[in-house]
Amino acid sequence: MNILLIGSGGREHALAWKMRQSPLCKKLFITPGNAGTSLLGENVALAVDEFEKLGALCLEKKIDLVVVGPEVPLVKGIRDYFMADERLKNILMVGPDKTGAQLEGSKDFSKQFMLRHHIPTAQAKTFFSNQSKEACHYLQTLRPPYVLKADGLAAGKGVVISSSLDEAQTSIKEMLEEKKFGEASAKVLIEEFLDGIELSVFVLTDGKDYVILPEAKDYKRIGDNDTGPNTGGMGSVSPVPFADKAFMKVVEEKIVKPTVDGLKKENINYKGFIFIGLMAVKGEPYVIEYNARMGDPETQSVMVRIQSDFVELLRACAKGELKNHSIEVDPSFAATVVMAAGGYPDSYEKGKVISGLDEVTTAQVFHAGTKQEGGQVITDGGRVLAVTAKGNTLLEAQQKAYQTVHSITWNNVYFRGDIGNDLLQFKA
Ligand code: AMP
Ligand code: GLY
Repeated sequence: MNILLIGSGGREHALAWKMRQSPLCKKLFITPGNAGTSLLGENVALAVDEFEKLGALCLEKKIDLVVVGPEVPLVKGIRDYFMADERLKNILMVGPDKTGAQLEGSKDFSKQFMLRHHIPTAQAKTFFSNQSKEACHYLQTLRPPYVLKADGLAAGKGVVISSSLDEAQTSIKEMLEEKKFGEASAKVLIEEFLDGIELSVFVLTDGKDYVILPEAKDYKRIGDNDTGPNTGGMGSVSPVPFADKAFMKVVEEKIVKPTVDGLKKENINYKGFIFIGLMAVKGEPYVIEYNARMGDPETQSVMVRIQSDFVELLRACAKGELKNHSIEVDPSFAATVVMAAGGYPDSYEKGKVISGLDEVTTAQVFHAGTKQEGGQVITDGGRVLAVTAKGNTLLEAQQKAYQTVHSITWNNVYFRGDIGNDLLQFKA
């Protein structure tokens, strides 16, 4: 099959790397891709939401399958665009339609969906832009910490957690009155704080059946020991030792099944990934959020553990034929450490020459913000590389990943030094 992969991050490099291993994958195009994906297929410089040009590329390159990496094209309706065009509608696509993508694109939609289908989640109340006063009053009736969520997409910045009532009230005014996140904060959810350990569960569904991919834990804060501002994710680990068989069984029964059944009941055309952000509270899972895509950098730790032919699974998903498919997973551990540009997630510099990439042997280096220039690979984003290693134990995977991280460098490189440390106490 000829495949088009949309996106340019570490997630897409990891997806491309896995798909390339399949005998089903003939030609692979990545839009726009990065220096890493260019080694696996052909990068084409198109933005992820240039639907017309993406459609034309699919026709020109005789694409059989489109795999959508990031959320923006999904929320903007790339599937709907393809479905509405006679020439494009038969091209297979992994990625839900605009309504399905609302599971990620609107926190209010996803909260109502969870409530309709009795899926365990934090209680929440939604406030509109003219209800800032009511929202401030409501906050006074709650105990800290306060969780505020902009309804729409806000590039991972739309959640504010504050232990000060004053601060929470200021934030809610900024969001609702001053539209801090534009239209994304025209509605805001005030949500119950869930105190527990987080993990990410990934599901590939065709809207009727599903396979559960390996779970992972993400490290969202910039600093060691979960300090400092939130980022896209600074590292990941898979499997998650406390998510044992019994826990995952509960996740499947109480969350995955009702989610997929809910999509079916509501006639939502969902062929794609569901990334379920969970909080384990006293051993019980609650949904924090849904995403309509895979996570980054979770994908990197997940892909290296999948043994099945991933293109076959993606094709089955896109065709609506996931029934009777299962997935084989390598029981070993994977750890991913993100190497970022100093200054990220605030301002940072680009264009630094990366050294040490050619000598790597014990890990897989997935590129995120990189580009090729004059025979060199240079930094081109905040999160630059994701270094993923496997081991028989979490400690071994972690040590191998860090060994490689220490052998790669550029001017003002930054990474967390504690990825996976919190999980070493759990016996697998
Ligand atoms: P989200 O953008 O929804 O992933 O939220 C960002 C982060 O905020 C999550 O990864 C959690 O760490 C945290 N968070 C979100 N909702 C809650 C909640 N109800 N209780 C506690 N923490 C939360
Ligand atoms: N790593 C979190 C995300 O992809 O949203």
